[in-house]
Amino acid sequence: RPAPSAVSGASGASTADRSAASGGREATGAVLGVATGSSPLGTYAELARRVRAGEIDTAGVSAFALDEYLGLDPTHPESYHSVIRRSVTEPLGLDPRRVHVPDGAAADIRAACLDYERRIREAGGIDLQLLGIGANGHIGFNEPTSSFASRTRLKTLAPRTRIDNARFFGSLDEVPLHCVTQGLGTILEARQLLLVAHGEAKADAVARMVEGPLAAVCPASALQLHPDATVVIDRAASSLLR
Ligand code: F6R
Repeated sequence: RPAPSAVSGASGASTADRSAASGGREATGAVLGVATGSSPLGTYAELARRVRAGEIDTAGVSAFALDEYLGLDPTHPESYHSVIRRSVTEPLGLDPRRVHVPDGAAADIRAACLDYERRIREAGGIDLQLLGIGANGHIGFNEPTSSFASRTRLKTLAPRTRIDNARFFGSLDEVPLHCVTQGLGTILEARQLLLVAHGEAKADAVARMVEGPLAAVCPASALQLHPDATVVIDRAASSLLR
């Protein structure tokens, strides 16, 4: 939520408009969808700078993480509970009670996934979903062949994803095999999508997302279906665009 008299909402819509558009929910603050990984770190750092400078007011802002590893204790330093706390909740000064991460340690994962979808709905839906893209075209942990209609659920991580994320762990063996992730259908319901990608390793996935056919083998191609999706990339990540 911008500080009073600072920028208005991205759509220019008034608080009342946004409240109406979100089914009449109390317009207490924006609902952010947040990604982990390296791609959004610059965005979080800039948001944190603006919070410190008093340019934006995050009181009342809620956040929903995209995903979590399965079976990793929330206190593990690489659980997304920990990562989101370090890179989002604390630097942006969010109220921890308003920050949600899927429960990858629940005894009943299916019930936890349904509960996560319910919490998103009750918050009025996600206003802005930040995304990165995997080198294999995943968004969230929706690995290739994920259904475009999928909801929050348990998934098996692709071997490529585990190799790419091994840099956060001591060894490849320590990277969990499974995860809980918002589905592509869940992600597509956010009012705005903002995907950030940099580096040559993302060039192929970016080209397939933007110029390839809509195809479950490139889950990020689902962004082509969204009416308000923005992709921010550097030169290297854009190098295979025609
Ligand atoms: C993270 C997530 C993933 C990452 C993707 C890119 O919550 O859902 O889709 O955004 O794996 O990761 P980085 O940014 O580390 O290259």
